[in-house]
Amino acid sequence: MKKRLLSGIQPSGVIHIGNYFGAIKQFVDLQDNYESFIFIADFHAITTIHNKDILSKNTLDVALDYLACGLDPKKICLFKQSDLPEVTELAWYFNCITTMPYLERATAYKDAGMKAKEVNVGLFDYPVLMAADILIQGADVVPTGADQKQHVEYARDIATKFNNAFGETFKLPEPLILKEVAIVPGVDGRKMSKSYGNTIPLFGTDEEIKKAVMSIVTDSKAPADKKNPDECNIFAIHKLFLKGEELDALRKRYEEGGLGYKEAKDMLYEEITTFIKPMREKREYYEKNLDEVKNILKEGALKAKENIKDKMGLIRNNVGVSI
Ligand code: ADP
Ligand code: TRP
Repeated sequence: MKKRLLSGIQPSGVIHIGNYFGAIKQFVDLQDNYESFIFIADFHAITTIHNKDILSKNTLDVALDYLACGLDPKKICLFKQSDLPEVTELAWYFNCITTMPYLERATAYKDAGMKAKEVNVGLFDYPVLMAADILIQGADVVPTGADQKQHVEYARDIATKFNNAFGETFKLPEPLILKEVAIVPGVDGRKMSKSYGNTIPLFGTDEEIKKAVMSIVTDSKAPADKKNPDECNIFAIHKLFLKGEELDALRKRYEEGGLGYKEAKDMLYEEITTFIKPMREKREYYEKNLDEVKNILKEGALKAKENIKDKMGLIRNNVGVSI
C-alpha cells in the first residue's frame, strides 16, 4: 500500500520559483510513489483576500499552475479546499481543544501580527484549519517548504490532543522537507516570498522575469574580481537550475574571477526561461480549456469527499454529536 501524501498552496497571488522548488516540484516528483492529495487552500486565502473576483481568479490560476508544472490528475487527487466544507467543521472541534497561548506561539502568526494592523481570528486560527486539512485525509506525509514545518508539528500536536480527549481517531503526519530547497532566496537574499515583494514569478512574462533577475542584489565587485559563489544571491538561484558539471563550471568562473554579475544574471535569465518553456506551453493549453480544469477539480473533490466519509462519521461519533 502506498503512503498517503497531502499538501496545498494558498491562492494568495502569483506563484514564484520559491513555491515551485520548495513545494510544487516535490508534489510532482512524488506523485508516482504516494497516494497524493493536492489542494488549493482557498479558505486559508480568505484570511487575507476579501474580494471575490481576486479570490476566484487566483484559485483558478493555482489550478493552472499545478497542472502546468506537471501534476497529473490521473495519478493524484486535485481539489479545492472549499469543496470540502467538512474541514471547517473539523477545525471547530479542534478549536475547542486548542488553547490561545499555544496558537500565539505560531511563528507565521507572529510574523503576520507584526505586519498587519489588525489580525483577524481566521489568521490566528490558520494552523488549526491546516491541521484539519491534513488530518481529515489521513495524510502520512506533508511536503512543504521549511517555513511550514511548524504547522505540520501543530497538526501532530492537535491530533494527539484529540486522540487523548475523544479516543484514537487520527494518525500523526510527518513533514517532508527537502534540505537543498528548504528556503529559496529572493532577489534581496531574504526568503523569497510574495509578502516581501522579492520574488521571481514562475509564469511571468519574459520582461517580468528579466526585471526580477536584473534586480538581484549583489556586492560591488568588478567583473575581473574573484568572487565567493556561496555569498552570491545570483549563484544561490543558479543552484536550482544547474546541476553537476555545469554548476561546478560556474563555481569555478566565480572563483577564478572574470565573471561579472551582469553576465551571471543574463545566464540565469536564460536558464529560467529555458526551464519554464514547456510548462508555459502546458499552461497556455489549460488556459484555453478552462472547462477541463474545472472538471478536474470537480472530480478531485468527489474523490476527496469519498476518502473522508468514514473518518467524518468516526469523528462525529467520537465527539458525541451523532445521536
Ligand atoms: P509566500 O511566502 O510567497 O506567501 P506561501 O506561504 O504561499 O508563499 O507558500 C506556498 C508553499 O511554497 C509552501 O509550501 C511554502 O513552504 C513554499 N515556499 C514559499 N516560499 C518558499 C521559499 N522561498 N523557499 C522554499 N519554499 C517556499
Ligand atoms: N499553509 C500552506 C501555505 O501557506 C497552505 C496549506 C493549507 C497547507 N493547508 C495545508 C499545506 C495543509 C500543507 C498541508 O502554503
